[in-house]
Amino acid sequence: MTIKITLLPGDGIGPEITDAAVEVMKHVAEKFDLSMELTEKAIGGNAYDAFGTPLPDDTLQACYESDAVLLGAVGGYQWEELPHHLKPEAALLKLRKSLELFANIRPARVYSSFSGDSSLKKEVLQGTDFIVLRELTGGIYFGQPRGYDAEKGWNTMVYQKHEIERIARRAFEIAKQRSGRVTSVDKANVLEVSQFWRNVVAEVHKDYPQIELNNMYVDNAAMQIVRDPRQFDVIVTSNLFGDILSDIAGMITGSLGMLPSASLGEKYALYEPVHGSAPDIAGQNKANPIAAIASVAMMFALSFQMTKAADLIEKAIERTLAQGKRTTDIYSEGQTLVSTLEMTQHILDNFEEIYNEEALGVFTL
Ligand code: IPM
Ligand code: MG
Repeated sequence: MTIKITLLPGDGIGPEITDAAVEVMKHVAEKFDLSMELTEKAIGGNAYDAFGTPLPDDTLQACYESDAVLLGAVGGYQWEELPHHLKPEAALLKLRKSLELFANIRPARVYSSFSGDSSLKKEVLQGTDFIVLRELTGGIYFGQPRGYDAEKGWNTMVYQKHEIERIARRAFEIAKQRSGRVTSVDKANVLEVSQFWRNVVAEVHKDYPQIELNNMYVDNAAMQIVRDPRQFDVIVTSNLFGDILSDIAGMITGSLGMLPSASLGEKYALYEPVHGSAPDIAGQNKANPIAAIASVAMMFALSFQMTKAADLIEKAIERTLAQGKRTTDIYSEGQTLVSTLEMTQHILDNFEEIYNEEALGVFTL
C-alpha cells in the first residue's frame, strides 16, 4: 500500500514537532512495509510572508490529492496585526472548511504515569478517558453576517439541520465503540440555535436506542469536566463550545503538549496537535513532540485502519513517560529533562523494544 501524506509544518514549533512526527511515521512504515509519499507545503504566517496568503492554492491542492494531512501549528506575534482573512489562523479555518472536516476528535486521556502532573487531584483524575467531538465547519466561526464597524461588532451562530445531524451521528457511532454514553453540550436555556441543536440530536438519537444520551449546558459542562471528568465518555458540541471545552479537557490531563486531534470529513482527514505554535520556544529543540506523535497514531488508526501501529506508538509514549522523560512543559523535579529530539528518540527506542517484546510474547508496560 502507498499512502500519500501532505505535511504542513507551519509556524513556531510546528516544523520541529512535524519532523518528530515524520521520524515516527518513517519508522512505522519500515516496520509495517508501508510505502509513503510525503509532500511538504507552506501554511500560516510563513506562507503569508513568502506568498502573500496564509493558505496558498497549491497547498490546498496538495491536501485534496492526499490520503491524510499532518499539520504542525500556525500563528505568531508578528502576524497578529494582519486583517482577519490574512492571519495564520484564517488558513486553518479555510482548510477545515474547504476539506469539509466537520468532525473534530480531541481525546482527553490520562497517561497513567502522568496523573501526578495535572492541576487536578490524582483521585479525581485517574481513569479519565473521554473525547470531545467538536463540530468544526459551522456555528459562529462561519456564520453570516459578521463584522464590526465604529459602533458595534457582530457574529452569527447558525446551524443547518444537516450539519447537526452528521455530527450527532458521528458521536453516536463513536460512542458505540466506547462505553456507549454521549453528552451533548449546548446553551439551550438562552440560545435558540442551541434549542434547535438539542432537538435535532434527540431526533438522530432515535436511531441509536442502545446509546445513552444526556444534554448539558456548556457552563455546567465546563464545571463538571473539572469536578468529575470520569463521568464523560463522548462529549459532542458546537464549534465555539468545543474550542473552549477541549482546552479545559486538555489542561486537566497535564499539558496541551500531549494532546492529539483528528479532523474528519466524508472524504478528507487532517491530524494535528491541539496546542499552538509556541513562538517563545520555537527553534530551541525544547517543544514537546508527544501531541504530534500521538496525532500520527490517530492517523494510522483512523485513516489507514492500522490499529496495531497506532497502539504501538501509544504504548511507546506511555513507556517513555513512565521512564520519567520530560520536556520542559511537563518537567518537574526528580525527572529527566529531555529535548524534542531526545524525546522523539526515546519514543522510537521504546517502540522498537515493545515491538520485539510483543513478538516474543513478553510485553508488559
Ligand atoms: C483550535 C484553535 C483554533 C480554533 C484557532 C487557532 C483558530 O484554537 O484549533 O482549537 O479556534 O479553532
Ligand atoms: Mg482552541
